[in-house]
Amino acid sequence: MYTQSLDLAGPPQAEADPETDRVIHRDTRQAAFDARIAADAKIEPQDWMPDAYRKTLVRQISQHAHSEIIGMQPEGNWISRAPSLKRKAILLAKVQDEGGHGLYLYSAAETLNVSRDDLVEALHTGRAKYSSIFNYPTLTWADVGVIGWLVDGAAIMNQVPLCRCSYGPYARAMIRICKEESFHQRQGFDALRAMMGGTEAQRAMVQDAVDRWWFPVLMMFGPPDAASPNSTQTMAWGIKRISNDDLRQKFVDATVEQARVLGVTLPDPGLQWNEARGHYDFSPLDWDEFRRVLNGDGPCNRERLATRVRAHEEGEWVREAAMAHARRRNGDDSGECDAR
Ligand SMILES: [Fe+2]
Ligand SMILES: [Fe+2]
Repeated sequence: MYTQSLDLAGPPQAEADPETDRVIHRDTRQAAFDARIAADAKIEPQDWMPDAYRKTLVRQISQHAHSEIIGMQPEGNWISRAPSLKRKAILLAKVQDEGGHGLYLYSAAETLNVSRDDLVEALHTGRAKYSSIFNYPTLTWADVGVIGWLVDGAAIMNQVPLCRCSYGPYARAMIRICKEESFHQRQGFDALRAMMGGTEAQRAMVQDAVDRWWFPVLMMFGPPDAASPNSTQTMAWGIKRISNDDLRQKFVDATVEQARVLGVTLPDPGLQWNEARGHYDFSPLDWDEFRRVLNGDGPCNRERLATRVRAHEEGEWVREAAMAHARRRNGDDSGECDAR
């Protein structure tokens, strides 16, 4: 769901090992790294890793963190308009979970020697990407249910394999995140089922939301494998375990039956069971739209980014207060406020 490009490692170099003060050849370290990957063992922050592996992880984990944080907005719009106290409490918890996911992931990225301030700056200036799906509008309450059912459903499909990612801090963050995503998917399906048992107007609202979200959701898995040249390397490194096209197919196959139970029609005339393949066929996706939205020109890109930057600026006093509190606890603030 999060695309990444690749910087290839340079030729082997010699460097000093800070612990032993001996010159260690990078190709020896590369061999140790390769052996760990081949044995399906975890790479931890203190382990040597190729620069390209580190850069790819920083890019992927930070894009993932940005997606979680920006992803709070489409549903956050509906907290004050939820149709009941129960739905409001569920939605509040869900949006708060997404904020927590962003924080775990920024922390995982920081173990790779990058600063959170730099990552946030890259998001705010438009240099960093986040998932294209969060640039679509939430027009009705049914959109909130459809986001839970389909967007969180697609996120689970994409993220469960990341629990086995070769980089330890990312894999461990994903285990907890996936448990919470499972609740997100269920609450969305449950909200839609309630609406489908309601009035004709409510059923029409659900169908309209499904019609608008279905194709953008399928694009969450990223470009077709043939157009993802970097996937081969990220799979060889054990970061990515299943290709974009295979994940997309798994999602379509699983969702068709859920749509039938719900009583909605997936808006693709090309969607049909292919006996020979043992999978559902579906129509080609509009990759021009995907690129346009990813590159900043979707229906809500400007609004999402402006809201995020404003929230960051308005939260400045909170960060300052937290830092002052931390200094005070550490006993290294001699300011007047420090009197106890
Ligand atoms: Fe999440
Ligand atoms: Fe979620």
